[in-house]
Amino acid sequence: PKDLLGLRELNAEQIQLILDTATACKDIFSRDLKKVPTLRGKTVVTLFFEPSTRTRTSFEIAGKWMSADLVNLTVSSSSVAKGESFVDTARTLEAMGVDLIIIRHSLGGTPRLLADSVAAHVINAGDGAHEHPTQGLLDLYSIREKKGRIAGLNVVIVGDILHSRVAKSNIYGLTKLGAKVTVVAPPTLIPKGIGEFGVTIETDLDKALRDADVVNILRIQLERQTKAYFPTLREYSKLFGVNLSRLRQARPDLLVMHPGPANLGVEISEEVSVHDQSVITEQVTNGVAVRMALLYLLTGGGNKDEILH
Ligand code: CP
Repeated sequence: PKDLLGLRELNAEQIQLILDTATACKDIFSRDLKKVPTLRGKTVVTLFFEPSTRTRTSFEIAGKWMSADLVNLTVSSSSVAKGESFVDTARTLEAMGVDLIIIRHSLGGTPRLLADSVAAHVINAGDGAHEHPTQGLLDLYSIREKKGRIAGLNVVIVGDILHSRVAKSNIYGLTKLGAKVTVVAPPTLIPKGIGEFGVTIETDLDKALRDADVVNILRIQLERQTKAYFPTLREYSKLFGVNLSRLRQARPDLLVMHPGPANLGVEISEEVSVHDQSVITEQVTNGVAVRMALLYLLTGGGNKDEILH
């Protein structure tokens, strides 16, 4: 495809190709090789209308490893601040010969509007509560790397499912690759119709964790809450927070994940975040590999053996 807008649009084979390509990319930077010339001459722009540490920086590092020319457009100091429309901004970038635009926006569907407006490739770096496909892919990659497979695993996603684009992309990706997904949250943070995505809904975290191979813990998105969804954060933490006592009751090989940024002491305790079973730091590293793979594949690369050339 021209763009990566969501995991909903990809099939299992396409997802596997991205994960396999990411393995080859991880090999490049974990062997501490010098930059590869693969994307020389390609211009990539990041256009973030919302804050980001991991996604934007890892795309930048991924692009630099592959010798692309990277430009970070700071939205607050661009002509968007003077009222230039979103589509005009995109066309202006295109007129400068941009090959690929990476966009994050608070409104779901904005990457689609961009992709329909420009010939450049578009990658969705998170749009509202809709999808965050590159996070979903790096989560899949991290699970496959640690567990050796995805099919047949019991994956629990706990947290603010209602506002989470990470949850949606994970659900699409995991179910397409054959995992069994259980979402856990207070009823007010479970979106209507989520059952149609092929997931089990649970409000008892201890019960859900009993058979879990993986728990992916989502941030309570305090900035997106429009009303009180639970009495207090302390109560949320007691019922839905992953702490050492819960970890000890789960399987000893339960894999603990969090896309970050985390509210430590709310959805995850500090001890769990740095526990041996936590792969939170590896998720960040894997994010670079997955984003290298996406830049390569979308700009025309098809053979992972050619990444080095
Ligand atoms: N997980 C994630 O998207 O993090 P950032 O908001 O820091 O990019």
